[in-house]
Amino acid sequence: MTELDVAIRSAEPTEYPLVGELLVRAYDNISDAVIDPDYNRELGDVAGRVDAALVLVALLEGVVVGSITYVDGGPLAELSALHEAEIRMFAVDSTVRGKGIGAALLAACVDLARRDGRERLWLSTSPWMKDAQRLYERFGFRRVPTRDRQEPSSGQMFELWAYLLEPIPEPRSTAQQCTRGGL
Ligand SMILES: CC(C)(COP(=O)(O)OP(=O)(O)OC[C@H]1O[C@@H](n2cnc3c(N)ncnc32)[C@H](O)[C@@H]1OP(=O)(O)O)[C@@H](O)C(=O)NCCC(=O)NCCS
Repeated sequence: MTELDVAIRSAEPTEYPLVGELLVRAYDNISDAVIDPDYNRELGDVAGRVDAALVLVALLEGVVVGSITYVDGGPLAELSALHEAEIRMFAVDSTVRGKGIGAALLAACVDLARRDGRERLWLSTSPWMKDAQRLYERFGFRRVPTRDRQEPSSGQMFELWAYLLEPIPEPRSTAQQCTRGGL
């Protein structure tokens, strides 16, 4: 397999607006589901979450093409408790999907959770995010329906599925398919 020139590092302040736009665009195009305007604002507000979480970006040949937010406690934690971490706001630009960039971002968060000594890594996903769910399951995440929840959005209730990775595994080959740096 040809090795992609992908680097994973934390987002720089000048990149916050374009990372926010990338996330909003990516979440908006998955299905006919209407994304709650409040959630869209939260997705797009990268500057507003960098003090509470680690916002990572993926660069393909130097261009930002994806992002994921690693949450280790604090106000952005939705499912995780003490000694647990969580992944949020995860997307890759639609023009470069299917090349392992999402896997590289996810692997970076698994590495962080292992480095931080976390026992579990949680995430929430929506039922229509099928591409993401295949990726999670390949990484060993499993659904935990007892932690599913519903949140109001644009006048309707939206289902959020809980996924859990436990224990945190050793580095995976998916991460090694990409040239990674900056963490
Ligand atoms: C989920 C998401 C981030 C995945 O990003 P991605 O970069 O396409 O992910 P990957 O390329 O690592 O994996 C996706 C697929 O490409 C395949 N793939 C990975 N490396 C590959 C390579 N080098 N060549 C060809 N295919 C490859 C994977 O096997 C996977 O296949 P699958 O569709 O059969 O599962 C992306 O689909 C996205 O942004 N979706 C919209 C937002 C979203 O749903 N976010 C999740 C919120 S919970």
